[in-house]
Amino acid sequence: MAVLEGDPAINLAEVEARALGRLTPLARDYYASGATDEITLRWNREAYARIAVRPRALVDVSARDLSTTILGRRHPWSVIVAPTAFQRLAHPDGEAAVARAAAAAGVTMTLSTLASTSIEDVAAAAPGAPRWFQLYVFRDRALTAALVARAEAAGYEAIVLTVDAPLLGRRERDARNRFALPEGMTAANLADALARVSSDGRDSGLFQFFASQIDPGFTWADLATLCSSTRLPVLVKGVLRADDATRAIEAGARGVIVSNHGGRQLDTAIASIDALPEVVEAVAGRAPVLVDGGIRRGTDILKALALGADAVLLGRPILWGLVDGEAGVRHVLQLLHAEFDLAMALAGCASRAAVTRDLVVWPRG
Ligand code: FNR
Ligand code: LAC
Repeated sequence: MAVLEGDPAINLAEVEARALGRLTPLARDYYASGATDEITLRWNREAYARIAVRPRALVDVSARDLSTTILGRRHPWSVIVAPTAFQRLAHPDGEAAVARAAAAAGVTMTLSTLASTSIEDVAAAAPGAPRWFQLYVFRDRALTAALVARAEAAGYEAIVLTVDAPLLGRRERDARNRFALPEGMTAANLADALARVSSDGRDSGLFQFFASQIDPGFTWADLATLCSSTRLPVLVKGVLRADDATRAIEAGARGVIVSNHGGRQLDTAIASIDALPEVVEAVAGRAPVLVDGGIRRGTDILKALALGADAVLLGRPILWGLVDGEAGVRHVLQLLHAEFDLAMALAGCASRAAVTRDLVVWPRG
């Protein structure tokens, strides 16, 4: 059926299709890309399709409570906005629009170190709304410490340390495009030349930025130091193994995010939902476990919760929505919220507590 002009998109796939046609080729390729053959990017979606739900019948689902508590804060439903860099490539309002849309939905937003709007400006765009700050560790440790201090001062509630990007993954479309920020756009948390993210004409400028600026020598001992240097809880993002999850908790991390960076880092890395169960088992309730990568349907959220996640993060769908500014992001959150609410009802779950492991058949175990 043809979609009428002006008809709101009916699902996230439609939001994506519409957005792809409206972005510049540079932005579209940067947002959509996975690493090399994009196999993990595909697996992230396929893995959800292989998980079957075992719905419960004749449960009173006339009132449904989708809320959950993570690190002492109540989240109205188990969704958080993932950190994604350079949101102004989607819309001039960029991160500020995402912050306002997330705030309106009571959803926590995670701001990227490589945001195109500063830590302080995003805080000012939606005062009092819950926010986390995603950290990349620079070779310049004073710069890294200053970013943490700014996030603390601006009221961010957690540091999300990304550990799957000692170097940037190889995104071939970005290499071909010689990815560089357009005139007038910067990595707004950084100063001067660093903020411009330009290419020398031989490769993706962002790949070159990581190779020269981000510290590939950061290890577990440094994590312990980071955790004790800030009063904010540190969540470690990019864990795909039980042993790493255990080490993260032992180093002082207050949460773990199971993620392969949306298939953008190591291609053929395990689908994040397939890595979730072993991480949940290793963490054993000591800290929240979150997961991201390929969440596009309400049933995906249900499956992640059944396999033990406390919440999921949304990456690309927020960017696709953002092509229509704040209203577009609101629409994405509303679509997914309605789908998740319906999935809960149809699965016979009136609350988070009812979403137990036996609700799904997971092909790997
Ligand atoms: C990301 N991601 C990311 N992660 C991070 O820790 N810091 C960052 O700056 C970025 N930037 C970024 C840009 C773009 C364009 C994308 C698509 C992703 C990864 C992100 O936080 C998340 O892990 C994935 O996007 C989740 O997968 P989905 O929801 O996009 O399938
Ligand atoms: C990316 C980085 C910035 O995925 O995290 O593009």
